[in-house]
Amino acid sequence: MDGEIDALVIGAGFAGLYQLHSLRDRLGLSTRLLEAGGDLGGTWYWNRYPGARCDSESHAYRYFFSKELNEEWEWSERYPGPPEILRYLGRVAEKFDLRRDMRFGCRVVSARYDEGANRWRVQTDAGERYAATYLVAAVGCLSSANVPDIPGLRDFSGQWFHTGRWPHQGVDLAGKRVGQIGTGSTGIQAAPAIAQVAAQLTVFQRTATYSVPARNGALTPEFNRWVRENHAEIRAVAQSTPNGHAFRIADRNVADVAPGEREAIYAAAWEKGGLQFRATFRDLLLDPAANDTACEFIKRRIRAIVRDPEAARALSDVDHPYATKRPPIDTDYYETFNRDNVTLVDLRADPIERITPRGIRTRSREHVLDVIVFATGYDAMTGALLAIDIRGRDGRALREDWRAGPHTYLGLQVAGYPNFFTITGPGSPSVLTNMPVAIEQHVEWITDCIAHLRANGIEAIEPDPEAVRAWDAHVAEAANATLLSKAKSSWYYGANVPGKPRVFMPYAGGLARYRKMCAAIAAKGYEGFILGKAGERAVTAARSGSIDALAAARGVGV
Ligand SMILES: Cc1cc2nc3c(=O)[nH]c(=O)nc-3n(C[C@H](O)[C@H](O)[C@H](O)COP(=O)(O)OP(=O)(O)OC[C@H]3O[C@@H](n4cnc5c(N)ncnc54)[C@H](O)[C@@H]3O)c2cc1C
Ligand SMILES: NC(=O)c1ccc[n+]([C@@H]2O[C@H](COP(=O)([O-])OP(=O)(O)OC[C@H]3O[C@@H](n4cnc5c(N)ncnc54)[C@H](OP(=O)(O)O)[C@@H]3O)[C@@H](O)[C@H]2O)c1
Repeated sequence: MDGEIDALVIGAGFAGLYQLHSLRDRLGLSTRLLEAGGDLGGTWYWNRYPGARCDSESHAYRYFFSKELNEEWEWSERYPGPPEILRYLGRVAEKFDLRRDMRFGCRVVSARYDEGANRWRVQTDAGERYAATYLVAAVGCLSSANVPDIPGLRDFSGQWFHTGRWPHQGVDLAGKRVGQIGTGSTGIQAAPAIAQVAAQLTVFQRTATYSVPARNGALTPEFNRWVRENHAEIRAVAQSTPNGHAFRIADRNVADVAPGEREAIYAAAWEKGGLQFRATFRDLLLDPAANDTACEFIKRRIRAIVRDPEAARALSDVDHPYATKRPPIDTDYYETFNRDNVTLVDLRADPIERITPRGIRTRSREHVLDVIVFATGYDAMTGALLAIDIRGRDGRALREDWRAGPHTYLGLQVAGYPNFFTITGPGSPSVLTNMPVAIEQHVEWITDCIAHLRANGIEAIEPDPEAVRAWDAHVAEAANATLLSKAKSSWYYGANVPGKPRVFMPYAGGLARYRKMCAAIAAKGYEGFILGKAGERAVTAARSGSIDALAAARGVGV
């Protein structure tokens, strides 16, 4: 056995770093972190594509657990790019001396619960073995790259890259004919940057989306001083809003204001830029008529920017309500289609038939290309977990248990997999939030939970299957109470990966409400969880039929 430890953490992004620090330095557990990539950073280690940048505003895209860390760190831009985020996470690792317990270039391939020993037996692709009492998956919701299986890719004579696996040394696109498939948050960032260097950029769009200007810029010393001096207040806002951002959602409905005022509110939000556009009215994701007004506003802006009428039509022909797919923000995305070297292909009208040795053939013609960029997203939320052969009690397999979709309690644990925790797992607010805030909450909940187990001589924790069923139902109910359920082509439903079960995966009830539920459940002795001796399955917590915190969670907000 290579490593006998108390806790093993998989993944070195925001989640894994803080989990390592918490278990090792707060609880004093021997803890190891394994990471498939060559260094820390997670998302920001892998995503080096042209134009890559955060959409969360930097003063909230950070940890809040250490005031000291925040006082000594200053962001330079409203939305940081990968190099700056990596410097930030590197500073975190240095400050808390994390690297000594991290292993890079180590992909976990299997994790098996040994009930007799109450240990997780974990193996890496290099054949290293670890045994740990607690296993924490911090593997990322958006870390398993989705390269669509388009016939002919192997025959392509040029180069191709997925944005989430972009070469760290960069790709020389100067003078090249580039084809970009995908116009989600990534594609919308990449296209303007690629167009500036490529000879020709062809953007292949399957589903049009709504993007709002980001309006990035350098932060002033005054703003940074304000951030330093208002650490507690910024944290309080981020932790008390449904999406974990450091801005509040306006306390008004669309119908509360006259059309002229509504237009002025949208115009001001468009000028200000960023995800705050979504916060202009509280009913945008609840009332179709309210949402229509935002859709119409953005569509009008698109048509006003894009000069070519056919491109303007295709870009504004959006088939879902605003923000029901993750809303992107951009820097000159629509303006890019006014360049002479950029062409839009509307795949709804002219679908891809195959990749040829020379490029991409759509129904109407062949597009000759030197490079194909797949901005085609991720096998989100479950992909990285199911890539590991995870076995719980009696050899049961997670891949089998989740064949029809993920089942969790609070997105934190799975029935039949004792002492296994998932950070921002399916069934938690996760990708519907500014993620570091959701990550911190999970890390702290898991750490407190393990502290409770150890203080009380409890060997194992796992959810009661009844609690999982109730939570599954509540996750579906929360999504259905919003317009999120209207975008069936969304990756929130797994719709971007052929064959993936169509289940709404994140919890749409809002982070603030969710935080309260998690805290209440812990305060009631981990209601809905089974706590006991490994192997005995003694139930010491209240059973799920009466999960008060869940019953109190009626009504949702996004
Ligand atoms: C391009 C892009 C931009 C984003 N921008 C924002 C934003 O503006 N705001 C926001 O809130 N969120 C954003 N996100 C979401 C982002 O993923 C989170 O903000 C955050 O970085 C997630 O951290 P994490 O630690 O949970 O996961 P990750 O950062 O994804 O880290 C998970 C790590 O686990 C490793 N791993 C996975 N499986 C294994 C295995 N079997 N063995 C070993 N290691 C493994 C991966 O290699 C990865 O390094 C963005 C995502 C993408 C893709
Ligand atoms: N700065 C940021 O905050 C930022 C930046 C990038 C990513 N992200 C996060 O990561 C998530 C994923 O973003 P993403 O843009 O990488 O992925 P995405 O939102 O899933 O978008 C993928 C794009 O590729 C298209 N596509 C997928 N398969 C295709 C196929 N076979 N043929 C043609 N088109 C295909 C999709 O079309 P359909 O819509 O038709 O499926 C979509 O336009 C975001 O939603 C966000 O949460 C954040």
